[in-house]
Amino acid sequence: MAKKTDEFVCQNCGAAYKRWQGKCDACGEWNTISEESTATERILSAGPGRPPRKGKPFALAPLAGEQKEAPRLPSGNNEFDRVAGGGLVPGSVLLVGGDPGIGKSTLLIQIAGAIAAAGNRSVYITGEESVAQVRLRAERLGLTRLPVELAAETSVEDIIATLSQGKVPRLVVIDSIQTMWTDMVESSPGTVTQVRASAQMLIRFAKRSGAAVILVGHVTKDGQIAGPRVVEHMVDAVLSFEGEGGHHFRILRAVKNRFGPTDEIGVFEMTGGGLSEVANPSALFLSERDLGAPGTAVFAGMEGTRPLLVEIQALVAPTSLGTPRRAVVGWDPSRLAMVLAVLEAHCGVKLGGYDVYLNVAGGLRIQEPAADLAAAAALVSSLAKTPLPADAVHFGEVSLSGAVRPVSHAPARLKEAQKLGFARAVAPDATRGGERDGLSIAPIASLNDLVARIVPDRPAPRREARS
Ligand code: TYD
Ligand code: MG
Repeated sequence: MAKKTDEFVCQNCGAAYKRWQGKCDACGEWNTISEESTATERILSAGPGRPPRKGKPFALAPLAGEQKEAPRLPSGNNEFDRVAGGGLVPGSVLLVGGDPGIGKSTLLIQIAGAIAAAGNRSVYITGEESVAQVRLRAERLGLTRLPVELAAETSVEDIIATLSQGKVPRLVVIDSIQTMWTDMVESSPGTVTQVRASAQMLIRFAKRSGAAVILVGHVTKDGQIAGPRVVEHMVDAVLSFEGEGGHHFRILRAVKNRFGPTDEIGVFEMTGGGLSEVANPSALFLSERDLGAPGTAVFAGMEGTRPLLVEIQALVAPTSLGTPRRAVVGWDPSRLAMVLAVLEAHCGVKLGGYDVYLNVAGGLRIQEPAADLAAAAALVSSLAKTPLPADAVHFGEVSLSGAVRPVSHAPARLKEAQKLGFARAVAPDATRGGERDGLSIAPIASLNDLVARIVPDRPAPRREARS
């Protein structure tokens, strides 16, 4: 007999409890635990009274042997392929997560169109919209003439039965995994149990048939809907599609990838005609610069193998609060705290009475420590009300001693700066000798050198003698 058990499952992380509680011990979220009935036994045992199946032995292979690179199917969309690691691997399952309205459906119908245009069977299943709505979007994107097969369906059994007919599809898009449901479990669609069981079945279909499956997953901050968190461990790659609400840039980032690197990003621009690839993101991120305003510095960054120039903006203003504000968008707040502390301790730049705001332009999120020097330059420039030279880029890591450390990929950063017409690079001492045609280097050994460059007539910081 199938044993029916009721359990309480956290809708955020999938942890299960015997009884209800207000806070999930596993992920620390509040109010995310709800009751779900799970009849998992029914899946596990084939039928009443049947003895357990005896295992069959299989052959084991040595580690050495003929290796085969996973064959890939390029989608034709360069930015997407870069993030996916060179194209879709047959039989692989990708999860594309992102906030609602960010453009996931738009991106995936475009990818489905591109795969179909190359003569491959490509299927797009939506559980969120009607076929008419998807057609309307496709019309707007100019994709209607492409042979993408379309359906509005949410039953996983029906979907797999349909896909198993005819030629094996090369790509199946499921938009979204939260709307799918299977008869195998009794919970309602959108619950962790349903999402997990549906994903499991689709993954098994992908592995068996060799079709590449892309699952769309919504992420909600409060964890009310079953997040794709539980699915993340099951799929081959997790891509996150992000962007700041008011900006038209969208960034596709690999969070996990069994078949490729995780540090590459794809940059898209949301236009009236859908998402267009941005082949030269630096030019886009720098296109609306506040030239000549104090508090802005251009950072020569790297995203994966690609250099990316972006503007870092700082505002340092006298505070009216007891505890001054420190607000950061697009960068790590603890790195800002560190740069502020180093400026104060080693350069005598007193910021205790000031509010500090730091923003990375264009909605980009920077993770590199190499941005320290650019952030420090923007901060000092804002405090001193002295604009930085418009033709300079900055990069370098600041250590707690105030020294400026070399960073990786310096030649690529310098090349990108030169390509975009910058005349100088404010960079770590070790970069000396990396000059290029039209690009000079201002070597910086310590943060003190940087402050002295921006405010030359400032008295040297007094070293407080302690007794
Ligand atoms: P959508 O792909 O539906 O988002 P998601 O599937 O992630 O929820 O995109 C919705 C937004 O994209 C919507 O606000 C309108 C915008 N958009 C454009 O600006 N241009 C376009 O050509 C399309 C199709 C959508
Ligand atoms: Mg959508």
